[in-house]
Amino acid sequence: MAQFEKSRWADNGFSRNYRDEADIYLPQRRHFIEMALSFYGHFIAANRAARILDLGCGDGLFIQQLLQSQAPAEVTLVDGSEAMLAAAKARLGERADIRFIRANFQDLLRHEPFPCNFDFVYSSLAVHHLATAEKKELYASIYRHLASGGCFVHYDVVLPCSDRLEKWYLSLWRQWIREQPDMGKGEKLLTIPEQYKGNQDNMPDSLEVQLAMLKQIGFQHVDCYYKYGIFALFGGSR
Ligand SMILES: C[S@@+](CC[C@H](N)C(=O)[O-])C[C@H]1O[C@@H](n2cnc3c(N)ncnc32)[C@H](O)[C@@H]1O
Repeated sequence: MAQFEKSRWADNGFSRNYRDEADIYLPQRRHFIEMALSFYGHFIAANRAARILDLGCGDGLFIQQLLQSQAPAEVTLVDGSEAMLAAAKARLGERADIRFIRANFQDLLRHEPFPCNFDFVYSSLAVHHLATAEKKELYASIYRHLASGGCFVHYDVVLPCSDRLEKWYLSLWRQWIREQPDMGKGEKLLTIPEQYKGNQDNMPDSLEVQLAMLKQIGFQHVDCYYKYGIFALFGGSR
């Protein structure tokens, strides 16, 4: 079983670097967020009191964007890292409609600590740290915690279906980094795709396998809503 405490995310320096550099090295990050917000606006926002869960929230960027552009909502943010949650609190402020929970996904599966069901569950770039069977358990738990008509939208890295495609996707990723005007960190960031590939904490499954899991669990309208190289936005509804 993947262990959060042994992963790089438990290291505050690593999470600090992510917060400083993610906008530069994550291809189309802001566009992926816009697509998830568009999904939310289309399918959920009419519900004026939507309950939202962000799993592996990092510094709360997505929820900040959502609260700025959509109707008010009641939000729960979960992350295994104290440093990330502190950054999320600093970004969002302490508010009655926002709840922060420090927990790793494995604990969530054991204890299921949510008293309510959610209308929208979002996760970005975190679940690929779980092994295949753990991902399936987490998706099933998300399904159980979705209100009727609720949706799960997942932005994450996926395993390409061949080495040939993976080589191209990784070179697309390097090209993206090379072309960023803010690439003040020089060559260092160009090694991120190789670091990603070499890091055993990263256990992506293919999009095909994960879409099949969602369907098997019972999700409806399962699809990949957007994709760029190894980065995909996918999910389903209850
Ligand atoms: C790449 S960051 C993404 C953060 C944020 N979702 C974003 O898109 O910027 C991955 C996040 O997942 C969290 N994380 C990784 N593995 C986790 C686990 N097993 N349980 C809970 N959180 C985890 C990390 O602490 C980190 O905040």
